[in-house]
Amino acid sequence: MALPEFVKIVEVGPRDGLQNEKAPVTTAQKIDLIDRLSQTGLQSVEAAAFVSPKWVPQMADSADVMAGISRKPGVSYPVLTPNMKGLEGALAADAKEVAIFGAASESFSKRNINKSIAESLETFQPVAARALAENVRVRGYISCVLGCPYEGKVMPEAVAEVARALKAMGCYEISLGDTIGVGTPSEARKMVEAVAAHVPIEEVAVHFHDTYGQALANLYACLELGVAVADSSVAGLGGCPYAKGATGNVATEDVLYLLRGSGIETGVDFDAVMQAGRYISNILGRPPVSRVHRALMAKEAA
Ligand code: HMG
Ligand code: MG
Repeated sequence: MALPEFVKIVEVGPRDGLQNEKAPVTTAQKIDLIDRLSQTGLQSVEAAAFVSPKWVPQMADSADVMAGISRKPGVSYPVLTPNMKGLEGALAADAKEVAIFGAASESFSKRNINKSIAESLETFQPVAARALAENVRVRGYISCVLGCPYEGKVMPEAVAEVARALKAMGCYEISLGDTIGVGTPSEARKMVEAVAAHVPIEEVAVHFHDTYGQALANLYACLELGVAVADSSVAGLGGCPYAKGATGNVATEDVLYLLRGSGIETGVDFDAVMQAGRYISNILGRPPVSRVHRALMAKEAA
């Protein structure tokens, strides 16, 4: 199949990235990062997570972050909502898009949100219904689509089953997360094909972490299947607090370089994303994880 002409990038750095960074990032710095990212042409910048501060202390200031950002018309600022309490927080913060997040593996589901897969779906159902009734868009995530830190291999059918359930709840898009970054292109393809039996390919997003260096190859394999939404994280920020050793998402800079080189439009200003990446990397006191970013920094220095 031909590659898509346009790919929407969902920037997840301020949430998926910062939720796992050890260095303190102030609320003002988070707001600044999100505002910089929303000036780059990105259509979606995941901004916060209304989760338990005992579980993920980095996201404890989500209400303040949402109150402080300058919302740019046309940009969506999704927030994570694991349950009704999270949704209430999101609604109070005037979120217009929320994400419910399940998993394809039982052990990860239990560690991440303290629920079995079935219990999590039962919890999400009224959350999604209430959000939709309030005119709030709902995105669905599935973690561990290509492997679980506790159970190993995950079957494509297990992913497809959760995708079917999230679709039935009214999710407009379902993001398939290789949380621990272990998958390879042929596995990614099989998994997306299984999901596509239940969810139209236009509603499928891919969310690769780069732990084993396969993220760009996996993304390209999925683009060839017609996937046209990719989650990525500026400067390659992050990891997952419930998946030891998992590194950050594929870097937005690297995805942009791949897409531009493949003749695919994104509407995103590469240089502006680089600057946002440099901004947050300076705060964290380390170079960006992005290979493209590092290469260009080295070129600049030379
Ligand atoms: P629990 O302990 O089972 O919850 O946690 P509970 O309902 O029994 O409540 C316990 C306490 O938490 C109570 O407070 C509640 O009020 C409070 P207490 O009475 O003890 O003071 N509570 C909350 N507080 C704030 N916001 C809430 C909330 N809900 C209850 N929404 C819970 C269950 C889901 C809350 C917890 O497990 C949790 O917050 N988990 C979130 C974990 C998380 O954020 N993980 C990272 C995001 S997922 C990810 O990164 C993967 C992804 O990127 C895709 C990929 O890479 O694959 C999406
Ligand atoms: Mg993730």
